[in-house]
Amino acid sequence: MKSYRIIEPSSEEELEKYYQLRYEILRKPWNQPVTSTRDEWEKISIHMLMLDENGEGVATGRLQLYNNREGQIRSMAVRTDLQGKGLGTEIIRYIEQKANEKKLDYLILDARENAIHFYEKHGYFVISDSYMLFGVIRHFRMKKNL
Ligand SMILES: CC(C)(COP(=O)(O)OP(=O)(O)OC[C@H]1O[C@@H](n2cnc3c(N)ncnc32)[C@H](O)[C@@H]1OP(=O)(O)O)[C@@H](O)C(=O)NCCC(=O)NCCS
Repeated sequence: MKSYRIIEPSSEEELEKYYQLRYEILRKPWNQPVTSTRDEWEKISIHMLMLDENGEGVATGRLQLYNNREGQIRSMAVRTDLQGKGLGTEIIRYIEQKANEKKLDYLILDARENAIHFYEKHGYFVISDSYMLFGVIRHFRMKKNL
């Protein structure tokens, strides 16, 4: 049984692994440039990186903090060959623990259509349509009260 651990990346090496995995899973398949993976919200976010026993990055997630009531889940990505094995669930649990520590009232997120079922399993519900990414990836705004 493999063992995984979640860290909040801080060193240059950890941050490099984190942004690289985000890019590989969420941007590269749509031929987007590496620069597209970072945005203006990085500084107000808590970042999570899951590592395997060899220190390789296997999953990411991020809690974007707007104020003391609302947070947004972003950058949920699991290495392709490890999807469907519970790693995303571990990341979302970690994020919700952080949100509870910060006493947030609710979490929102913009789910890709393929991930809606995953979030529903964790108690999120669709509240509206959201944006279209790269002209092809439909998103739905979801919410969970904490
Ligand atoms: C969506 C994602 C973060 C879920 O993490 P995960 O580790 O694969 O999910 P878990 O194993 O914890 O949970 C599995 C559940 O999620 C669903 N799921 C969603 N996408 C899946 C995928 N690509 N592969 C397998 N299961 C997936 C499954 O239906 C499963 O539900 P079930 O047990 O009722 O069948 C991950 O699959 C992923 O990175 N997908 C590609 C990038 C993406 O779409 N990110 C979300 C952006 S909003």
